Amino acid sequence: MGSGLQPERARHVAIIMDGNGRWAKKRALPRAVGHQRGVEAVRRLVRSLAGTGLECLTLYAFSSENWKRPDEEVDDLMNLMRRFIKSDLPEFIENKVKLKIIGDWQSLAPDIVAMLEDALAQTADGTQTLAVALNYGGQHEIARAAAKAAAQAAADGGEISIETIAAHLDTADLPPLDLLIRTSGEVRLSNFLLWQAAYAEMLFVDTLWPDFEPAHLARALDDFARRERRYGGR
Ligand code: FPP
Repeated sequence: MGSGLQPERARHVAIIMDGNGRWAKKRALPRAVGHQRGVEAVRRLVRSLAGTGLECLTLYAFSSENWKRPDEEVDDLMNLMRRFIKSDLPEFIENKVKLKIIGDWQSLAPDIVAMLEDALAQTADGTQTLAVALNYGGQHEIARAAAKAAAQAAADGGEISIETIAAHLDTADLPPLDLLIRTSGEVRLSNFLLWQAAYAEMLFVDTLWPDFEPAHLARALDDFARRERRYGGR
């Protein structure tokens, strides 16, 4: 735990990538271009991962609420996902980036599910995790985990506890969340990693997602290392 004297290095950072639409609007470009530039920001960040020392970077790519967007925009986002996995998978393998998907991703289009399953298998021995939240909602994740913990308790007579619920979250195998970043100036969690954020530091930056650079993340990690975390203690 942070004593305030020893810098504490972040192991797990999550990002709510917000502001693609506003980035495009400012330039009178279609929203789709904003999302394309958003993918480029993702690519830059993943390429910088080795230098960050992070064990895991989790990105909110598609929320369970994003289905409410116009069909054309949903299609654009799904197509970007297809293209991103296809074009960047060889780099993930080369750079030992282990892909993980959180959320109800198994209910996405069958070709995307197959593509993701293949990418998960091909990156399984990576050393740094890129977790992508797809069709993800934090409340639903907690409800699913609680149901599994309850079924387990009914079967083995154990209790339902913080630990048994946490063990069934999509993130059960990831390090604790240290830092949650949201871009574009909005200050809310939007149903992202609600359970995991319990003791996470939060950073809200005005930068629109397509303008987010590896240097922004590096600065956030430096700031994090200087903060004193108390976890409710003194
Ligand atoms: C928010 O911008 C961003 C999203 C809804 C999706 C984020 C997706 C990407 C960066 C691209 C896909 C990701 C991968 C990993 C391939 P917004 O449209 O809500 O922006 P606005 O609030 O300015 O309108």
